[in-house]
Amino acid sequence: MKIGLIGVGTIGGFLVKRIQEDSSLELCFVLDIDPEKVKDFSEDIVINSISEMGAKKPDLVIEAASQQAIGQYAEHVLSTTNFLVLSVGAFADKGLEEKVKGLCKSNGTKLFAPSGAIAAIDLLKAMQSELEEVEIVSRKNPKGWGREDSEKTIIFEGTAREACKAYPKNINISATVSLNGIGFDKTTVKLVSDPDCGGNRHTLNVKHAFGNFVLDVKAQPTKNPKTSSTAAYSAFDLVKKIQNGINIF
Ligand SMILES: NC(=O)c1ccc[n+]([C@@H]2O[C@H](COP(=O)([O-])OP(=O)(O)OC[C@H]3O[C@@H](n4cnc5c(N)ncnc54)[C@H](O)[C@@H]3O)[C@@H](O)[C@H]2O)c1
Repeated sequence: MKIGLIGVGTIGGFLVKRIQEDSSLELCFVLDIDPEKVKDFSEDIVINSISEMGAKKPDLVIEAASQQAIGQYAEHVLSTTNFLVLSVGAFADKGLEEKVKGLCKSNGTKLFAPSGAIAAIDLLKAMQSELEEVEIVSRKNPKGWGREDSEKTIIFEGTAREACKAYPKNINISATVSLNGIGFDKTTVKLVSDPDCGGNRHTLNVKHAFGNFVLDVKAQPTKNPKTSSTAAYSAFDLVKKIQNGINIF
């Protein structure tokens, strides 16, 4: 399977390694706004504009760049191939969500998003019609929020839509939960800056018509303090599920 990659940062760098180690996958292009990130790749796979993508004939394009990048590239990518996106917080913008749905429908292409740094998305989605309350509490070291608090501080309480706008680089989990649950306006989010939390920790509290579930995940951040180490693994796992056409959890 031929894969194009937009964004060769923390997650993208991990994916490059995994793709290159797998003889059934081929990295057919890389695109990054920072020339430093692509300087070690052979010239024939570096592209400088998404308009060069077509010639590489990717079966799948992965976005591991930024929320802005989804809006920037979705139309071009989805006009010919499938798109796997990491920066799902972009879909807090209702207009973008509708536009992308329309692109997939009219072009017969697909949009994929991994569960990323959260889990239990399968049960959340299965219970979608019966959900009553969904809350996500995210705790990170102050650096992960771009802050310098010396003690535990609640930095945000509100809806997932508001959270995605206030913390666009941090809030993909809230977006993934919203898209698979009761939506951006009903999902409640609490963000905590905690110097003693010892990693990125996310607690999902769900109440549905027949009971409830609580999920608590903790992972060390990557060299990007905003990004949990598990997100890149989840993205590669989804690449393999797409390649194999089998989706067994
Ligand atoms: N879904 C999840 O659970 C989850 C978890 C962690 C991170 N993320 C998101 O994944 C994305 C990548 O995370 P990361 O930690 O690898 O970030 P990073 O900052 O380490 O790397 C991003 C790379 O993308 C490049 N880039 C940014 N905007 C671009 C654009 N418009 N076009 C081309 N290249 C562009 C940057 O130059 C950089 O090299 C972020 O948006 C992050 O919020 C999602």
